[in-house]
Amino acid sequence: MYTGIQHLHSGLAYLALIALIIVIVLMLIGSLSGKEFTEKDRKIAMIAFILAHTQLLVGLILYFVSPVGFSLLTSGGAMSDPAARLTALEHPLINIIAIVLISIGYIRAKKLQSDRARFRSVYMMYAIGLVLILSRIPWANWLG
Ligand code: HEM
Repeated sequence: MYTGIQHLHSGLAYLALIALIIVIVLMLIGSLSGKEFTEKDRKIAMIAFILAHTQLLVGLILYFVSPVGFSLLTSGGAMSDPAARLTALEHPLINIIAIVLISIGYIRAKKLQSDRARFRSVYMMYAIGLVLILSRIPWANWLG
């Protein structure tokens, strides 16, 4: 079970990151070209929103089955080891904050009136979320 969830979380990370980058670029283009924020734009933004939430769900399960998640946090000593602190505390916490910001950007875009403000809501909040996510990926475990 642990290995399956770990692989799922690892593979979904590619999809979520690529989707976030594509949506940010498309929303920036939409804003700069002054075009209308259409239903198609909302659906494009929703793809990255759904992938981020699926990753959150898988991440939460992984956190409780992984030896480097919650069990490491409660075993003591994790705070003094940077690698342990990353997977047991920083990565989950910062990613939850990032996904909350992405959600705010997506939901606010639906409520705003001006097209430019709707594009900006998505690309600004998704970009802040992406930077937060990238700042706390366990790169050595993932690609190392
Ligand atoms: C969009 C959000 C997220 C992305 C892009 C992401 C990405 C990743 C990546 C690339 C890894 C390394 C995988 C590997 O070593 O093969 C990882 C590990 C991990 N993630 Fe996430 N993650 C996200 C959100 C979360 C959340 C919200 C949690 C928990 C609440 C979480 C918990 C974990 C844990 C515990 C590990 C270590 C797993 C292990 O090696 O046993 N992740 N994540």
